[in-house]
Amino acid sequence: MERKQFLRSLGAGAAFALIFPCTQSCSKSDGGDDVPEGDRKEIPSGVDFTIDLTANEAAPLANNGGFILVKSNVSPSLTDIVVAKNLEGNFVAASQICSHQQTDNVRFRSEDGGIFNCSTHGARFDQNGNPLNSITNNPLKIFNTALSGDILRIFE
Ligand code: FES
Repeated sequence: MERKQFLRSLGAGAAFALIFPCTQSCSKSDGGDDVPEGDRKEIPSGVDFTIDLTANEAAPLANNGGFILVKSNVSPSLTDIVVAKNLEGNFVAASQICSHQQTDNVRFRSEDGGIFNCSTHGARFDQNGNPLNSITNNPLKIFNTALSGDILRIFE
C-alpha cells in the first residue's frame, strides 16, 4: 500500500505523512515561561483526514494504549496530531502541540487510565483535553474520531 493510500486528506488537499511514535528522549525543564515565542508552534486547525488501520504505519493502533503521530507534509506547523487507541479500545486524537507553550511534545500515555502528556514541562491532560495539573489551565485541543470499517477519520 502506498503512503498516499494510507492517509487521505478530506480537507484542503493537504497530504499527510506519518511520524512514528516517540523515539526522542524526553526533555524536561522546570516549567516557567521558557519557550521563546519564535519556537512555539501553531495548534492544528481545519483537521480532517483518514487513516487506513490496515497499513503498517498504523500498527501501533492495533493495541490499547498504542499511538501514532501524524504530521502534514504541506504545512508541518499546522497539523501535528496524536492518534491513540485508549485503554478501552476507543480511538482518541489530540493536538501534538501543547496548550501550555506550544511545543510538539504531547504524547499518549497509558498511566492513570490513559492521558495525554507533554514532556516539555510535564503538563497532563485527560482524554477530553482537561488539564490535570497546575502546569497550565489551557485545555488541550481534542479532535473527533469516527471509525468506518478499517478507516479512521480524524476531524473537527
Ligand atoms: S509546553 Fe509546557 S508542558 Fe507542554
